[in-house]
Amino acid sequence: MKISVLGLGYIGLPTSLLLAEAGHEVTGVDIDKEKVEQLKNDELPFEEPEMEELFQNAKDNFKAETEVEPSDVFIIAVPTPLDSSLNIPDLKAIKSATEMIGAQLSEGDLVILESTVPPGTSENLILPILKKYNDGLDFNLAHSPERAIPGNTIKEMKNNSRVIGGLNEKSAEMAESIYDSFVDGAIHLTDIKTAELVKLMENTFRDVNIALANEFAQIGEELGINAWEAIDLANEHPRVDILNPGPGVGGHCISIDPWFLSSNSTTSKMISLAREINDSMPNFVVNKAREMVDDITDPTITIFGVAYKGDVDDTREAPALKIIKLAENEGFQVKCFDPHVNDFKYELYSLEKSVENSDCIVIVTDHEYFEDIDPDQLSMRNKNVLDTRNIIDEKQWEKAGFDIGTLGIR
Ligand SMILES: NC(=O)c1ccc[n+]([C@@H]2O[C@H](COP(=O)([O-])OP(=O)(O)OC[C@H]3O[C@@H](n4cnc5c(N)ncnc54)[C@H](O)[C@@H]3O)[C@@H](O)[C@H]2O)c1
Repeated sequence: MKISVLGLGYIGLPTSLLLAEAGHEVTGVDIDKEKVEQLKNDELPFEEPEMEELFQNAKDNFKAETEVEPSDVFIIAVPTPLDSSLNIPDLKAIKSATEMIGAQLSEGDLVILESTVPPGTSENLILPILKKYNDGLDFNLAHSPERAIPGNTIKEMKNNSRVIGGLNEKSAEMAESIYDSFVDGAIHLTDIKTAELVKLMENTFRDVNIALANEFAQIGEELGINAWEAIDLANEHPRVDILNPGPGVGGHCISIDPWFLSSNSTTSKMISLAREINDSMPNFVVNKAREMVDDITDPTITIFGVAYKGDVDDTREAPALKIIKLAENEGFQVKCFDPHVNDFKYELYSLEKSVENSDCIVIVTDHEYFEDIDPDQLSMRNKNVLDTRNIIDEKQWEKAGFDIGTLGIR
């Protein structure tokens, strides 16, 4: 098959390469000229385990371009961010990608939407645009939401089960045959709107569960009880699985997708409440940091980890962004260190420079790197650490002279 994938980001690029490795003739299309140029020069635009090897295997069947060419299959993997001032999805990239495809569509072609969207988008937004360009043309449309997680994307794209919703049975079956070429997990077929809803339910479930864990952490502190220990013990129950408290929820999925469900609903309550709780966690973190440096004049704090989750370089919607801004508003000097991130809104320091003259380390991201740091090697003005992920060896850090703070433990 000749396949065009629109959007060469965290989802579109690995998908393109897996399809190319499976033998399809793949054109990756992106409006970001620099990204396309990088790929033309055999450079990968971001870090992801196993991607270099996949790129080498797939290269002969893959090319990157800025324009869409006629194809048998078009896959849309463009961003669907949140308009954060209104908490409603911004679908302009979906519209423009669909317009680009509309102009190239032929009889019998298949369009697959992979981007996460509010329920109804395929039928209400995408279909009319395609029809506008191709009145009377018989084409196919499906939605196949992506479940893969950054840091393990390639393995998960191959092995996760997948839901495919079709505009009709033929569309769903055509899309199934495309994914079958590289997916080992089960493929479940349904209608297009159900597939849109399933994706949002999955991430909303996690967001609500994390909000509950965060609330338990705050209640634990009020009661003087170690909430982490209590959660571990509660999870011994065969039907209980509480997630971990933390400094907030980031990334392009869990912190955003719940709004896609609740923003246009007049009945939803729990979803926005969970969002509110998780979005308030950076404030909780900064309050705790303030308590730890209360008696210090002109305090400097060091943020360990600006990526939104462990062992990745993705900083989109990362809790660190809000923590830094709140901390600066408190009058703190803030220095950041992240062993995985090179490109960030704020200046990044080396490990050594980030702790120099610092009064408190705030561990925001659970990078494995931080678990292995030797606290004896850290030369600071005052030795405080606030471990919002509960990942350090407390005895070792205490022995090195640190005062330790953790969310959910007073
Ligand atoms: N990253 C994840 O872990 C993940 C997981 C599941 C689902 N998703 C969903 O997948 C979709 C893509 O996410 P991502 O993380 O790959 O985004 P991304 O920001 O990493 O990449 C998107 C790419 O699309 C390009 N683009 C924008 N408009 C375009 C257009 N009209 N034509 C061609 N290219 C265009 C951008 O330049 C960018 O390179 C989103 O809807 C996201 O919610 C992401």
